[in-house]
Amino acid sequence: MDLLRNSLIYMGQSAAAKRVVTETPLRGMARRFVPGETVDDVLEAAREANGTGLTVTANYLGESVKTEAGARRAADVYVELLERMHAEGIDGNVSLKFTQLGQEIGEAFLRENLGRVLHTAKQTGLFIRFDMESSDFTQRTLDAFEMFWGEGWREIGVVLQAYLHRSIGDVHRMNQLGARVRLCKGAYAEPPEVAFQERAEVDGSFVELMKVLLAEGRYPGIATHDEAMIRATTDFAKSEGIGADRFEFQMLHGVRRDLQTRLAEEGWNVRAYVPFGEAWYPYLMRRLAERPANMLFMAGSIVQETPFGFLWPGR
Ligand code: FDA
Repeated sequence: MDLLRNSLIYMGQSAAAKRVVTETPLRGMARRFVPGETVDDVLEAAREANGTGLTVTANYLGESVKTEAGARRAADVYVELLERMHAEGIDGNVSLKFTQLGQEIGEAFLRENLGRVLHTAKQTGLFIRFDMESSDFTQRTLDAFEMFWGEGWREIGVVLQAYLHRSIGDVHRMNQLGARVRLCKGAYAEPPEVAFQERAEVDGSFVELMKVLLAEGRYPGIATHDEAMIRATTDFAKSEGIGADRFEFQMLHGVRRDLQTRLAEEGWNVRAYVPFGEAWYPYLMRRLAERPANMLFMAGSIVQETPFGFLWPGR
């Protein structure tokens, strides 16, 4: 299984493998996880999700942008996205990464470039979530967040990762500020100095942080597809008399759609994270590496989508 996972991670970085995926019916399969490359595509997926009782958070894929032109383009896309979500009555918000908007170029540039997006968010009354990247960026991300919070921006929130030892302190800090937190397990390979390594430890931390957020936080987002974590959350909310309007579940577009709609039907708030953009290929490879069983889904979609029945490797 590790061999398959490592191969998928390698494919995520290989130009030749990218051509195979982007120029074949595999592109169709990718649409399960990434509805398309344009703002139109993500808005269509958002409308569909709204129609099934889910709210959304839209993410323009990209990170570690090193050029001013690239970071400005990302800001332009977010400005257009927010304006159109507002104009078209989409029930949603956006998620972005500081490094996508120019954090690595410099603080002054980030303030100016992200400032445009923040102004649009304020005008449209929409919320911005700052995704969390690897532990090299945790402190920088939280510092940047507090800088913008200190300037008076309020409709902004962070992500904290249950696998990091430090997160309990960060949860208390965000609760003290009154800032909205998305809690997730954490997606990066982190060393034991900073992160729990065992699944049971990560899950234990997730439950502990979830309880503090539900009891003391401001409308936290509990981001997981793990039914044990979801059950722990609904059980805790019921036992403490915490209403369904005080928090939400969040899941990735295309992952456990059955669970997303079931929770929404039961009356819980559920938000789907819908990524879009030209950078869909490495994102797809990460989702496959997380759960290689998704390859089976991919095989099924090829059988349905190619006129030849099968895409044989020799073709
Ligand atoms: P876990 O990995 O234990 O999976 C539980 C079950 O979920 C699996 O058994 C399977 O059934 C299902 N599942 C999980 N992944 C799947 C997949 N790709 N395909 C199909 N089924 C799958 N991380 C981060 O570091 N920074 C961030 O900002 C965010 N943001 C974020 C937003 C949202 C809305 C979500 C849902 C997740 C994130 N993450 C994240 C990712 C998160 O840290 C984590 O890596 C994944 O959510 C997987 O962890 P689970 O909690 O789902 O549990």
